[in-house]
Amino acid sequence: MAKSGMYVGLDIGTTSVKVVVAEYIDSQMNIIGVGNAKSEGINRGIIVDIDKTVQAIQRAVRQAEEKAGIQIKSVNVGLPANLLEVESCQGMIAVNSESKEITDEDVRNVASAALVRSTPPERQIISILPQEFTVDGFEGIKDPRGMIGVRMEMFGLVFTGPKTIVHNIRKCVERAGLVVAELVITPLALTESILTDGEKDFGTIVIDMGGGQTTTSVMHDKQLKFTHVNQEGGEFVTKDISIVLNTSFNNAEALKINYGDAYPERTSASEEFPVDVIGKSEPIKIDERYLSEVIEARIEQIFRKSKEVLDEIDGLDLPGGVILTGGAASLPGVVDLAQEIFDTNVKLYVPNHMGLRNPVFTNVISIVDYSANLTEVYHLAKTSVTGEKVVSTQPTVASPKDTSYEATYQEPEEQHYEPEEEHSTGENVKGKISDFFKNIFD
Ligand SMILES: Nc1ncnc2c1ncn2[C@@H]1O[C@H](COP(=O)(O)OP(=O)(O)OP(=O)(O)O)[C@@H](O)[C@H]1O
Ligand SMILES: [Mg+2]
Repeated sequence: MAKSGMYVGLDIGTTSVKVVVAEYIDSQMNIIGVGNAKSEGINRGIIVDIDKTVQAIQRAVRQAEEKAGIQIKSVNVGLPANLLEVESCQGMIAVNSESKEITDEDVRNVASAALVRSTPPERQIISILPQEFTVDGFEGIKDPRGMIGVRMEMFGLVFTGPKTIVHNIRKCVERAGLVVAELVITPLALTESILTDGEKDFGTIVIDMGGGQTTTSVMHDKQLKFTHVNQEGGEFVTKDISIVLNTSFNNAEALKINYGDAYPERTSASEEFPVDVIGKSEPIKIDERYLSEVIEARIEQIFRKSKEVLDEIDGLDLPGGVILTGGAASLPGVVDLAQEIFDTNVKLYVPNHMGLRNPVFTNVISIVDYSANLTEVYHLAKTSVTGEKVVSTQPTVASPKDTSYEATYQEPEEQHYEPEEEHSTGENVKGKISDFFKNIFD
């Protein structure tokens, strides 16, 4: 159950940095502020320029602060799934106290015991997720505190990631003058937050189609069991249009948004629109079908990569089918194309919050929601692992002005896009989760 209070989520995306301020009253989420600033310094989901990223974060945070009428000091920030690994862990301790009543300290100790492992020098533990405790042989306990026992075991999952990604995210947030309250693994938050209990249990695939990368996640038996990152996204579609039609990136983006469709069969070859072409004084006419074929080629390639990895784990047999979200999923025809390629039921997920009914905000809303719902047991286990002090996941609130504010969607400001030299397929990065849970679908 979510606490009451204020939570801020930060999603550092390739195309834009999003910030959401959410106020929870009796577990009810109300979004009271939003910021969305054009990204710079992020390439294919990864921070490549700290200074530029810091500025984008600051712009997005400032917008959200103004709208929410609060000062943001700490944020819950999303971590992409690139090179993410998850392993199960298990620890056991003898309960410490005289009375044998289990305390916070015991929870910390059992989490530490579960983490006696070696991590390669280039990786670090991001978080530990306690799943269940056993007290004197009694299983299935979610929060053992206050119970009496002699022996306690904890079973959980431990997430590790590349030090460099974690470091760069922290560094950018701190340089932007903010404290990292919680580093949230984005696909974990996403699947937790947008799927129904049935979808989590029986198994569902979520594909987050961002600007710079596409992340495929599988949740089954209520656990995130698989992630795969393909470093290709909506910006690649725009680049393709720009190259094929010989027009600027910004023109290509506008064509995609205004006339684009990923499913050529739905379009007409007689509907034409003008395109400003580099080196020509007069615009040329392009038909919708042609534009659609360009778009389809890239989106199909993205989906085929997801399908390839999903086929390896029989993921497409899961009854929940595929749920698409992320900015690039809002392109018309994407669901039809996905349906054809994955040959299973496909839905588009759009957040249902006033002013934020746009899939670009799905991740940041999930990050907030996930952070607000983290349990005390989680925080105890995690602080013992990372050695961090408990930092409030809530921002410091300075004179709330008007909490009845309705957030409204804004296009990110300032389009500064520099095409990369390399413009081919992105490399595939498969989370080791897949190896660990190889037999999950048996
Ligand atoms: N209405 C729309 N139609 C088509 N494409 C859209 C639309 N709205 C946004 N997009 C595309 O969505 C992409 C941005 O999505 P999103 O904001 O989810 O990415 P990001 O989080 O910044 O990037 P990433 O997750 O890859 O790091 C861009 O390529 C943009 O062109
Ligand atoms: Mg994203």
